[in-house]
Amino acid sequence: MQNERAKAMDSKVSTVYTGRVIYKSGLLWRTLGYRKTARQQFGQHAEKYRRSAIHGDQKTLEHILEILSPDGWEKAADIGCGGGHMATALAGKVRDLVAVDVTPQMLFQTASMAVERGLSNVVTCLGDVQNLPFRAEAFDIVTCRIVIHHVANADRAAVEMGRVLKAGGKLFIQDILGSDDVAARNYMDEIERLRDPSHVKDYNSEEWNRFFERAGFEVSHWETMRGSYQLSDWTLRSGTPRDSLDLIVDRLEHMPKNVGSHLRARYTDGDWTIPMRYLLAVATKR
Ligand SMILES: C[S@@+](CC[C@H](N)C(=O)[O-])C[C@H]1O[C@@H](n2cnc3c(N)ncnc32)[C@H](O)[C@@H]1O
Repeated sequence: MQNERAKAMDSKVSTVYTGRVIYKSGLLWRTLGYRKTARQQFGQHAEKYRRSAIHGDQKTLEHILEILSPDGWEKAADIGCGGGHMATALAGKVRDLVAVDVTPQMLFQTASMAVERGLSNVVTCLGDVQNLPFRAEAFDIVTCRIVIHHVANADRAAVEMGRVLKAGGKLFIQDILGSDDVAARNYMDEIERLRDPSHVKDYNSEEWNRFFERAGFEVSHWETMRGSYQLSDWTLRSGTPRDSLDLIVDRLEHMPKNVGSHLRARYTDGDWTIPMRYLLAVATKR
């Protein structure tokens, strides 16, 4: 229904002005729609993200800090801070950090984690990555981890993160990397939307390169990291309702061969394991 309305709106060419941002009306509708859905979704399950072992994995966080290698004097922003794992890990290595999220309950989780860890240089700020509430060139480092697949206008998000970074500043991105095979990517996007209705799309390498390029970045680090989700844990965290879970299981059990050879989901010991590929990239603002 949401997609049908978005398609119908996309066909119109009227333009809406919202402060700095100019949207075609269809895109505005989709942007606001997904933002509302993200707030509803993450607002209900905020604490589970703070407790998530995958988001809090120390090895990955240490690796990210290593590739970002902050000097300690930087002003940083973590966008889509969620439960606060990236924000609090980075805050320990920079001068100041602003943790931004579109969901107020997530800001509460991040603020609590910062207090728990004795960090006094973290402030939280309600904001949308597609229209950040900061002046241009406000930050030396911006991080955005596992967020952009919830964002309708990823191009706009990249431009905004570029706008708030100083020239020479670094953007770190981690996100689920979509398959280059169209059928496999669409199939996985559908599973992800059933699991969490705020999922928009797993952007692939080509799309990410385009976002960086258009927003005035030069990619200085690019790696892919393999991981996997256990269906039970993954859907518990997002509070997926029973009927949606049944549909996901049906999709996993009846995966077409050409899709299965890309996604490689497997059923063992009473649970499904769904492999994921992540992009970890650092892009420098020109
Ligand atoms: C998986 S969590 C992020 C995890 C976190 N970055 C970490 O490293 O632990 C995704 C977060 O993105 C936020 N989000 C979704 N859409 C957003 C948007 N348009 N702007 C800012 N944050 C958004 C959600 O509210 C949620 O807190």
